[in-house]
Amino acid sequence: MLSLKEIQKPIATELSTFEAKFKQSMQSSVPLLDIITKYLYKQKGKQMRPMFVFFSAGLCGTINESTYRGASLVELLHTASLVHDDVVDDANERRGFFSINALWKNKVAVLVGDFLLAKGLLLSVNNSEHNLLKIVSEAVEQMSEGELLQIEKARKLDIKEDIYFQIIRKKTASLIASCCAAGAASVQASAEIVENMHLFGEKVGIAFQIKDDLFDFGLDDIGKPIGNDIKEKKMTLPLIYALNQTSTAEKRHIINLIKNHNEDPKKVEEVIQFVRNSGGLGYATEKMLEYQQESFHILEKFPDNEYKEGLKQLVKFTTERKK
Ligand code: IPE
Ligand code: IPE
Ligand code: MG
Ligand code: MG
Repeated sequence: MLSLKEIQKPIATELSTFEAKFKQSMQSSVPLLDIITKYLYKQKGKQMRPMFVFFSAGLCGTINESTYRGASLVELLHTASLVHDDVVDDANERRGFFSINALWKNKVAVLVGDFLLAKGLLLSVNNSEHNLLKIVSEAVEQMSEGELLQIEKARKLDIKEDIYFQIIRKKTASLIASCCAAGAASVQASAEIVENMHLFGEKVGIAFQIKDDLFDFGLDDIGKPIGNDIKEKKMTLPLIYALNQTSTAEKRHIINLIKNHNEDPKKVEEVIQFVRNSGGLGYATEKMLEYQQESFHILEKFPDNEYKEGLKQLVKFTTERKK
């Protein structure tokens, strides 16, 4: 696996120009917002989504101002979704630091998320980027539906594999799909190519969330809370598989732990151990690699160049990353 720095090489200049534009796109003259957006900017994440935008654009045409706006738009909406997600998941750590809700409370986090969302809308509307806005807004709609579907299922704890895939396709893959589609659309690619890039991003996005869900059962420091999915009663693929493999009695016991003892770290640890011992992590990894393979397959239709290679490396990074 190459490091993100190495993968970025073909688009290094573009990414540094993007950095400045992205920072500017969050600005506000309200002091509290200014402090918080600066804090968000300092703890910036991996910025993989802008990379998907630039590589997809380069693969399908010539990177231009629209591509930059697409990149800022997706990163703004991604950041907004994380700020809101940490309220929803009651998570106090993000990117190795305190989350916005941990430092400034839920009220402030909700409003900051809304502010970032509005900044994304304005960036698009003020530059007549209606096409990009449509692609990305559809993703945001899906993300909200995905998170709500997840909440509904967490209440009943009756989730099957197909519903799990529906949830992660909506809450995570839709945005990564929109990055690849927006990149292609920003260079005036045909509708068919935009659709292909969307599908490519969707496959990668599904693999991306399976990897994220695997982290929750690991031991590594990933800069956000571990075991939080179980605490939040999220039934992810490793757990769904483990429950399908076991006896009715043990299944009942584990479900009871998740339902009624999810605030007790010892019981959460018991659930994690159960999943680790059941082959659930191996199964989820296999599924993740299947999606990775499907994404590579879609790329085969495209000409070989440094951007395609960049996308391939970014997909590999997605499934092999340590955080
Ligand atoms: C986290 O995404 C949210 C998920 C969809 C799992 P990233 O892992 O890309 O977050 P940052 O931006 O690098 O922090
Ligand atoms: C993805 O789900 C979150 C979004 C789509 C916003 P998670 O809840 O697993 O993401 P993390 O682990 O908090 O980053
Ligand atoms: Mg979360
Ligand atoms: Mg997660």
